[in-house]
Amino acid sequence: MADFSASGLGPLVLVNRQHPLRSGFSLALAAPDPGYPDILLEAQAAKMLAACIQAVGGAGRIVPVSGWRSHAEQQQIWDDTLDKEGPDFTTSYVAKPGCSEHETGLAIDLAEAAETIDFIRPHFPYDGVCGSFRKAAARYGFIERYRADKSALTGIAAEPWHFRYVGVPHALLMEQHGLCLEEYVERLKEHPMTCILENGRRARVSRHAADAGLPPAQGPRQVSADNLGGVIVTDWEVPQ
Ligand code: DAL
Ligand code: ZN
Repeated sequence: MADFSASGLGPLVLVNRQHPLRSGFSLALAAPDPGYPDILLEAQAAKMLAACIQAVGGAGRIVPVSGWRSHAEQQQIWDDTLDKEGPDFTTSYVAKPGCSEHETGLAIDLAEAAETIDFIRPHFPYDGVCGSFRKAAARYGFIERYRADKSALTGIAAEPWHFRYVGVPHALLMEQHGLCLEEYVERLKEHPMTCILENGRRARVSRHAADAGLPPAQGPRQVSADNLGGVIVTDWEVPQ
């Protein structure tokens, strides 16, 4: 379980055009692949990404393309893409500076290893080792963030290469219920959700107003800001 308490952020922070990232958070960053020391992710996300790639036999075959970006870097990517590709392409594939998940350190673009890799739209197919990664990703806390059928909600076109760390059980719940992050947070506003984990234990996820008191924890608990004025609380059942 990651400890995000000092960061002011959290693995469930929702960042999109309607919900820009607030400033003033701190991040512990790490390189998920030592072969690419300049590509960084939030430390827990980096560890889980490396484990998932290892588990599917993807070492050297799945490569990181873009991880954490500073605000200035996102601005540069936005400006360059606008210049080269025009506004339609840019708004489809590049988040506005301040509204990019990459600025949280929780998003990674991946590519199938190749001589030439497109930085904005890397090739990450649905079959082979990339397909195996995709199938395993939720167990390691990652979701394919921008699916074609959710683009009206996310505001971004299909990006089969962009994975977002939300952690377990959230990635499993989102996959089981076919929800993108926007829908997941809305669903949690309506009612708590529960997930039976691989070890048979149960996790319960509930959302609370940020200024409301939380019920006392009976066991391990994670609290994440959602960037919508709420916190998402995950309680793990204690074995009897
Ligand atoms: N490509 C994604 C949407 C970003 O720029 O954050
Ligand atoms: Zn991305």
